[in-house]
Amino acid sequence: MTAQRLRIVLTAALLLMALPALAQQTAQPHAGEKTTSEVPTGLYQIPGQTEVTSPDEVPLFVPAQDKIIGRVSIPDGKLATLVQPEGRVWRDFRQVWLKWGAGIIILGAAAALTLFYLLKGTLRIEHGRSGRWVPRFTTLDRFAHWTTAVSFLTLALTGLLVTFGRPILVPLFGHEVLTPLAQAGKILHNFTSVPFVLGLVLMAVLWIRDNIPERADWIWIKTGGGILRKVSEHPEAGRFNAGQKLVFWGVLSGGGALAISGFLMMVPFAFTGVTGMQWIHVIHAVVAAFMIAMILGHIYIGTLGMEGAFDAMGRGEVDENWAIEHHRGWYNEMFRRQREPPAGSGHPAGAE
Ligand code: HEM
Repeated sequence: MTAQRLRIVLTAALLLMALPALAQQTAQPHAGEKTTSEVPTGLYQIPGQTEVTSPDEVPLFVPAQDKIIGRVSIPDGKLATLVQPEGRVWRDFRQVWLKWGAGIIILGAAAALTLFYLLKGTLRIEHGRSGRWVPRFTTLDRFAHWTTAVSFLTLALTGLLVTFGRPILVPLFGHEVLTPLAQAGKILHNFTSVPFVLGLVLMAVLWIRDNIPERADWIWIKTGGGILRKVSEHPEAGRFNAGQKLVFWGVLSGGGALAISGFLMMVPFAFTGVTGMQWIHVIHAVVAAFMIAMILGHIYIGTLGMEGAFDAMGRGEVDENWAIEHHRGWYNEMFRRQREPPAGSGHPAGAE
């Protein structure tokens, strides 16, 4: 009996001695885990509530401003957001609205251009080709243009592949075709952004002086470049007319917005949180849709839409009559500077 009592007393004493050690062990942080005093309390700040001083004061799930925020013991605080309702709106945008919106903007532009072509056909050089060539763009000008153009077209096609690949290519060719295509497209898209930005910067440096708005642009806009309202002669334009200036500034601002938002998407969460990333994606996609539509119009007028325009970027020179009809101000200035008409020319018959 005495021995049994002794055993009980000894066990109790041992337990009492072991308790502080056990308690300390439970409080030890696991490898890599932060102790309460090390945890930055900001991570646990719940919107609308006073700041808490310890993770233990934070309930596991906190409905805050229509969100459910949990708690994390790692430095990546954004992972504490368990449910983000804006995410559903963004998913709807990505899966539904973007496809319809971009589809309508781009196909709408293509349809409008087709209709315009059917109604008006190619705009001819009014007095025919003179056969004399006027230098218009240097090799460097054309290098800047075609670097930007080829990279933009690559970016547009790969961007459209990522956006429309699933609804269009999967039913036709299946996932086994779309998956490698979309993966390659994504890599190409990211890399092509570099020559695109270089081309933009070069075009900006080379052409910004000739794209400053001036009074003559207003007449051009009012008459739609002589297309909307017939005028006795084309409104006088400098090196670039008002329509081209709009394209230039549209390319610079749209391209700039695409580049900045695109680079921000390449380094996700480096500068903003989940909602910020969603906005960046929306801006990128909407600007891209409008810019593709604008560039369709630009390509149309530079090829099918206007006789003689392509030569400017193709061979760097244009027919003298084309220069006089479309850019009289620029042509006259060139005349003055050179003090004599370009290569064996007088004023072509019928032209001012
Ligand atoms: C196949 C595609 C393209 C063709 C055939 C084309 C054709 C042309 C032509 C002929 C010009 C000179 C017009 C003139 O002498 O007055 C020009 C100018 C220009 N191009 Fe392009 N281009 C194409 C794609 C692009 C792309 C993708 C961009 C930009 C993303 C671009 C941006 C510009 C700009 C900013 C100008 C100067 C302003 C203007 O003339 O509108 N081009 N292009």
